[in-house]
Amino acid sequence: MPAAPQRPDTDHLRTQLAERPYIARDNRAELEVRGANAPPPKESDPLQERTFFTNGWCHFPHDPVLAGWVERTLPAARAAVRAPENAEWLRCGGTWFAGVNALPNDASGAVEGGPPVAGRAVDFIHRLAGTRGLAWDPAQVSVVYPGYPRPMASESAAAFRYRRDCDAAHLDGLLRDGPRRRRFLREHHAFILGIPFAAASPDAAPLAVWEGSHEVIRRVFHDHFTDTPPDEWRNVDVTDLYHAARREIFETCPRREVAAQPGEAYLVHRLALHGIAPWGAGAAAAADGRMIVYFRPDLGGPQAWLSGV
Ligand SMILES: [Fe+2]
Repeated sequence: MPAAPQRPDTDHLRTQLAERPYIARDNRAELEVRGANAPPPKESDPLQERTFFTNGWCHFPHDPVLAGWVERTLPAARAAVRAPENAEWLRCGGTWFAGVNALPNDASGAVEGGPPVAGRAVDFIHRLAGTRGLAWDPAQVSVVYPGYPRPMASESAAAFRYRRDCDAAHLDGLLRDGPRRRRFLREHHAFILGIPFAAASPDAAPLAVWEGSHEVIRRVFHDHFTDTPPDEWRNVDVTDLYHAARREIFETCPRREVAAQPGEAYLVHRLALHGIAPWGAGAAAAADGRMIVYFRPDLGGPQAWLSGV
């Protein structure tokens, strides 16, 4: 695995973005129509950038380049789901294959014999990050099946209720550690790129994301870490802080369900609270289930995680 490139200084981009007026909430309906129906932009789309930074996520309409990558990568994703060594990822009573880093792709995003991951969503990421290439992580293959979620033995009743009623909403990178299972910032994913691999109805366990939650997390964690050097953040217990931030987000940020089809994609800000909604009563999906491949490369350190774009 090649070393991840140094993440560029993006302060200038952040300043530029901060100086631009953000899209008012009243205009979001227009953005959604544009996202669903408009042809993909050929050049940088400032409207989409503003949508991403305002809401903490954005959608990319069907892209033949990405659709080609999905088609060529699908056999490897199916094989990963069936592989005996990945059986440990089947959870929630057999209704969720979590599949973290289960796709055997290389740093270009290609599986054996397949093309590198590419398309407008990838171009968008490069524009925001100021890169022309990055080291893609082995992707997560997340598959949800009818009936999600079912209780599992390793899950408390309260944890199951949180999964069922609150989408198991979480922030990536805050890992449990120690005998008291407290949470610490241990991973610094640059972004979450979701790429559907199978057709599914919108109520087939869509992603749930709390719009604007990335700025709540940024503010709360910035205030908390302000007197601590970044290389020591990994040892700061953030459990209570995180729970308080989550409560604020549930009270103040709108919850949005995000569903997409193969050839489309969505990008979620790394600081955005998100989870998986339950499988709807009338939901339907192809034989593969609701299969989404997620890239979450860890490209920067703690300071980039908190302060970068
Ligand atoms: Fe997540």
